[in-house]
Amino acid sequence: MYIKESKGFPEDFLWGAASAAYQVEGAYDEDGKGLSSWDAFVKIPGKTFKGTTGDVAVDHYHRYKEDVKLMAYIGLKTYRFSISWSRIFPEGNGKLNEKGLQFYDDLINECIKYKIKPMVTLYHWDMPQSLIDQYGGWESRQSVDDFVNYAKVCFSHYGDRVKHWIIMNEQNVFTSHGWMLGTHPPGKINDLKMFYQVNHHVFMAHAYSVLALKEMYDDALVGSSFAFSPSYALTNKPEDALSKQDYDTLQSYYWMDVYAYGRYPRAALSYLESLNVKIEMEPWDEDILKRSALLIDFMGVNYYQTTTVAYNPPQGVNNLNGENNSGKKGTKAVTGIPGLYMNPSNDFLDKTDWDWAIDPSGLRFACRDITSRYDLPIIISENGLGAFDKIEDGKIHDPYRVDYLREHIKELKKACDEGCRILSYCVWSFTDVLSWLNGYQKRYGLVYVDRDEEENSGTLKRIPKYSYYWYKKVIESNGENL
Ligand code: BG6
Repeated sequence: MYIKESKGFPEDFLWGAASAAYQVEGAYDEDGKGLSSWDAFVKIPGKTFKGTTGDVAVDHYHRYKEDVKLMAYIGLKTYRFSISWSRIFPEGNGKLNEKGLQFYDDLINECIKYKIKPMVTLYHWDMPQSLIDQYGGWESRQSVDDFVNYAKVCFSHYGDRVKHWIIMNEQNVFTSHGWMLGTHPPGKINDLKMFYQVNHHVFMAHAYSVLALKEMYDDALVGSSFAFSPSYALTNKPEDALSKQDYDTLQSYYWMDVYAYGRYPRAALSYLESLNVKIEMEPWDEDILKRSALLIDFMGVNYYQTTTVAYNPPQGVNNLNGENNSGKKGTKAVTGIPGLYMNPSNDFLDKTDWDWAIDPSGLRFACRDITSRYDLPIIISENGLGAFDKIEDGKIHDPYRVDYLREHIKELKKACDEGCRILSYCVWSFTDVLSWLNGYQKRYGLVYVDRDEEENSGTLKRIPKYSYYWYKKVIESNGENL
């Protein structure tokens, strides 16, 4: 849409950067923390790139003060981080761990000391292992009660200082990797029934948490973050357009509709019925989902790339996992579900070394789509470039990351001009982090961390990259100086 004059970003826009507990903290068994699903999963040979673990990660647990100070220097307005459930409840339920509570108290207070607003994610994939041992984790309805109990403790303990809450991070990603692709815990492959059942439990945990938070703090802002890859039809053949609809329904709206409308898309339910998949629900679930949908304040969006969709005949591509986890460009395979759709590469877009399509306009597209469909404010809770960064003369020159971020921010600004209400933009990530399946070599940070795949490697020294200094100017100019 051509808008003559840009109004730019709102004055109170929250420029941020993000992390997740398992990817940065380390200290995996310190100060009373229980093991999480990821602590256990990474120890299974062959599950992660070169066997990398988050045992030490980038040691944020011990170095958070240094990290927050680096955030303060560039004037970061918000720091998005996640709480590790098994630090608060080592067993997931039962006994509370005061030292775990204290760590996040200290981190929150440190942020506030520098006027950085803490934006807290409650679940970024690290389920307490004990709950999996007790009853299969998210597979059991009991997980809903235990999660909500954990959520309430966090709200009541930190809610006086934390205004922005993200309940779930990328429910679509952790459930599909966990129960369809077998690449995240619990490592199940093609377990369609359980995949949808688990999702229902996670939706209920999200919904009950939203209701609980609003009862305690009605001025808190709450939502969940969705990994949104908007789609383009490969051609204007009607069958490609319909496959795009199938993709959107089953891969995007299935989650966002529940968060924002409190109901599953009808086409998805019909499809599941045809596969004999019936989601077990309590009679009151629909009501709870609807009530929570009325209360969410934003849609969280983690945006990295768009997807291309083409019709896939019943005898066509049958491949759920095409991921390139090595960083060898050109090794991603085409994925597809026979009879529904396939996802060929988009020849109009450049790719990262991990074959992720680079598409800044897709971010604007995502915001426009959410605004039209749900009319909700949006928090861009992640956006960034995974790349091989190299130190030269003690410095990291990453103009490619600056180009990536600049072009995405430009498109975001256009989305603001087009009427999207964007509240915040968080670069993924603040420091380099452990990439779940891609080790430490796939770096996202504004700040370099000296370590690699080897356990106990590197000094863990923090070195701000060129992109860090660039982002400082972006923040100072409220997105004008790009
Ligand atoms: C998102 C996650 O999926 O993307 C992050 O919320 C993750 O935790 C990020 O690190 C980048 O993905 P990857 O696989 O490149 O690390």
